[in-house]
Amino acid sequence: MKESEYITIEEALKKESGKVKLRGWVYRQRSSNKFVFINLRDESDIIQCVIPKSKNLEIFEKAEKLTIESSVKISGELKVDERAPTGYEVSVTDLEIVQIAEPFPITEHQSPELLYDNRHLWIRSRKLNAVFKIRHTVVGAIHEFFRSNGYYEFDAPIFQPSMSEGGSTLFEVKYYKDKVYLSQSWQLYAEAGIFSLGKIYNMAPTFRAEKSKTSRHLSEFWMAEMEAAWMELDEVTEVAKAEIRFILKEVLKKNRKELEILERDINLLEKYEAAEYPTIKYVDALKLLDEKYDMKVPWGKDLRTLEEAKIAEHYKVPVVVTHYPTEIMGFYKPPSADNPIEALCFDMLAPEGYCEIIGGSERSLLVDNMKERLRAEGEDPETYSWYFDLRKYGSVPHSGYGVGVERVISWICGLDNIKDAIPFPRTMLRKTP
Ligand code: 4AD
Ligand code: MG
Repeated sequence: MKESEYITIEEALKKESGKVKLRGWVYRQRSSNKFVFINLRDESDIIQCVIPKSKNLEIFEKAEKLTIESSVKISGELKVDERAPTGYEVSVTDLEIVQIAEPFPITEHQSPELLYDNRHLWIRSRKLNAVFKIRHTVVGAIHEFFRSNGYYEFDAPIFQPSMSEGGSTLFEVKYYKDKVYLSQSWQLYAEAGIFSLGKIYNMAPTFRAEKSKTSRHLSEFWMAEMEAAWMELDEVTEVAKAEIRFILKEVLKKNRKELEILERDINLLEKYEAAEYPTIKYVDALKLLDEKYDMKVPWGKDLRTLEEAKIAEHYKVPVVVTHYPTEIMGFYKPPSADNPIEALCFDMLAPEGYCEIIGGSERSLLVDNMKERLRAEGEDPETYSWYFDLRKYGSVPHSGYGVGVERVISWICGLDNIKDAIPFPRTMLRKTP
């Protein structure tokens, strides 16, 4: 038997009838004294296989021994069967057992913690298989979006000498006789890169020692960032909107089946893909919260998740909020020239409670102001002297943003917890397997 004769279950289902050779794992097995039914799964789908005792006693007896997740090779005759879950059934003519699996630790109705303890096995589930296929599309779409719009991929170090997003979430790492930090963002290095390449992007592991145990925070996540010379706030927010729409378009084109497995409302995703996304100022967001939801947020306070959720609920599509108070923003987010208490920055908030999926801004060109803000955060501006060089040699206006890849996947897939958007999640409470 040549390996190349095997086809995937998905290919078999397209073929609809005839002889097929399949290999995969036992998803379910049930037997009576006349038949063994095996639901066989592979990377592509699940199909019902039937082994009647009357046809071949030897194969029937082998099949009776199969346990969940046993690996098998099957030859058989495919035909339509309306009673089978996928509408097709394979009548087995040959069965090769590759391995009889030990009792699988995951059975139905498991606690979430047991599933996370067995993540190395749980990633075989239909749900995670579907999420990872969508993740594959999302990541591919991000590369395609930037590459087809003239951006160069540009890499930054993961070991970094300083913070960019606040010292309290830094992971410190021993570095020979010294110490460094794991990257919180690609941004500061990207701001150097644009003087060489103009428009750049990147997708990389990002690390934050988040003390919050929410369903939206990972300690290790992937951020997709862009940075562009000459670009200002009004333009960069439009790039962000176009990127999100493009990701949605690609998922809707390539992953209908996976969205159905996840029971995601496809009409809603289509609406998001077609819609215009509003841009509002922080100050107007406060007004909206007060007038429509009776939520009083004093000017100067950052928006909390429940407030972000209400803003996105009001618009029912992703919404860009700009001009947050300068004093609660990172040192590199510039004060607006007309009203310095507002920063030229933005977040994009996703509806259905998913909230912040993107953070970005214009970049400050005011070295003294940045130094002062760094000092206020307890940082030594000297550590950032290379960064301030960028404001000395042909400084230009520039902007960028970062997309939380798992936040976007969670939203598109309709997940309850961001941990399911990445194969092996890392959080404050989970670092294994
Ligand atoms: O808003 P953030 O902190 O922005 C930056 O890091 C900028 N330097 C990006 C830039 O301008 N190049 O992070 C960007 C996005 C957030 O909007 C969120 O979607 C995601 O990264 N993010 C997280 N995702 C999962 N777990 C966490 N702990 C996250 N922290 C941020
Ligand atoms: Mg942010």
